[in-house]
Amino acid sequence: MFQVEKFLDEGQDYIRKNVVGKAIVACSGGLDSTIVAILANRAIGSKSTAVFIDTGFIRIGEKERTEAIFRKYDLNYRIIDASSAFISGLKGVTDPEKKRKIIGKVFIEEFEKVATEIGAESLMQGTIAPDWIESGGGVRDVIKSHHNVGGLPEKMNLKLVEPLRDLYKDEIREIAKYLGLESSKQPFPGPGLAVRILGDITPERIAVIKQVTEIVEREVETKLKNSLPWQYFAILTPVRTTGVHGDKRSFGETVAIRMFETSDAMSGTFSKPPWDFLDQLSTKITNAVAAVNRVVYDITNKPPATIEWE
Ligand code: XMP
Repeated sequence: MFQVEKFLDEGQDYIRKNVVGKAIVACSGGLDSTIVAILANRAIGSKSTAVFIDTGFIRIGEKERTEAIFRKYDLNYRIIDASSAFISGLKGVTDPEKKRKIIGKVFIEEFEKVATEIGAESLMQGTIAPDWIESGGGVRDVIKSHHNVGGLPEKMNLKLVEPLRDLYKDEIREIAKYLGLESSKQPFPGPGLAVRILGDITPERIAVIKQVTEIVEREVETKLKNSLPWQYFAILTPVRTTGVHGDKRSFGETVAIRMFETSDAMSGTFSKPPWDFLDQLSTKITNAVAAVNRVVYDITNKPPATIEWE
């Protein structure tokens, strides 16, 4: 049985023992990294600074929500807008592994800049077990380089400290609940919406995925709140198809909806929401986002598919 209080005590000891000098905590606003930031604040107080980077691939309102959490827990923090560095770095890149490596590289460059400003020598991250297992840290093949593991360059000037390395998502949720964080919050990948845009990454397509993501989250969270899926999101596929708009032919974007059930993210099944819900969701999306003329629902389990499309 996992014991939250015991873990929190041990986690703080681990941080005190392993952090060298001051530390910055790479914060995405998700549960994993927020837990690390709170734990670091408890363990070493103002020697830690939570750093949130706006990559340009975050969800609408994400920066504001994250800042509110930093304030609620009275953390030392910095918010940095690095969207132009990320967007220009990903120009013309469609290979998912390349994307993750580039994102990891730009993240580290940005973190090293802040670390130099603050005079920090350690970098803390919310890496959990499935991240490094699937990134090839075990005996398995690299399934995908999760940005907070495989995306890191081999040489880095900061000492990496990862207090949640041995935990799984269900344990994270227990800790979050204990700390008063919204534990129903769904996971969101570190590389953000960049891994949910397949094909060209352009400002227009970034705007499309942001809008659709907001609609999907709002609709699921209001209409399915009593049976919330474990994860629910949209993917902008590289497929364009023919449609009709008024009496005109259109050749628009195809959005895929993924809703997923699992306990540990290692395996799981697609959700089976009511048809009516999917019907309304599809109409809402195509009415609100002119560039999209087709919506499909992903009916694949993991394995064989991963939860994200990239
Ligand atoms: P996959 O797609 O590997 O996803 O089945 C398992 C869980 O991990 C999330 N995910 C990521 N999280 N960096 C992260 O921090 C990443 O690069 C990444 N890729 C996937 C995914 O959203 C799911 O919850």
